[in-house]
Amino acid sequence: MPAAGRRRAPKILVVHGPNLNLLGKRDPDTYGRATLAEINARLRADAKKQGVLLTIVQSNAEGAILDRLHAAMGKYDGLLINPAGLTHTSVSLRDAVEALGFPAVEVHLSNIHRREAFRHTSFTAPVCVGTIAGFGLDSYLLGLQALVRRIAPSPA
Ligand code: DQA
Repeated sequence: MPAAGRRRAPKILVVHGPNLNLLGKRDPDTYGRATLAEINARLRADAKKQGVLLTIVQSNAEGAILDRLHAAMGKYDGLLINPAGLTHTSVSLRDAVEALGFPAVEVHLSNIHRREAFRHTSFTAPVCVGTIAGFGLDSYLLGLQALVRRIAPSPA
C-alpha cells in the first residue's frame, strides 16, 4: 500500500470492439445517437468521480484487441468491454479475457437477448463477472460502476 495508507487509484481498461467507432451514425434506433467520443467523455467523467483511471481503446481488428488485452496483463485492475460482434463469434477473445487475471464486465448498448437469435450467445459472458445490456449509454456507466465496486469495494 502506498504511503499514508492511501491506495493507488485502480486502473481500468475500456475496450470497444468492431464497428463501435460508427456510433452516432450506425442504426441509431438500436444503438442510440451518442457517438463513441460522447460515450468516452461520460465514462471519463464518471471515472473521475469514482477515483479510477481509465485507458480507452477501440479497434475493428480482433488481433489488435487480443494484443491489447495481453499487454494489459499485470498492469490493470479491471476490464470494461463491449466486444460488439466478437461477442457472438470469438473463442479467442473469450480465452484472452479469461487469461487476464483481473475482473471483466461486459456491456452492450442494445439488449442482445431481444434481437436476432445469433446475438443471444455470448462467448465472453461466462468469463466476465457480469453483463449489462439494453440501456444504451447507461450500460457503459452502470458497467463501470459495477466493476469499480467489484475492484475497490467502499467500506460498509
Ligand atoms: C453490441 C451488440 C452486438 O450484437 C453488435 O454486434 C454490436 C453492438 C451492442 O453494444 O449492443 O456491434 O455489442
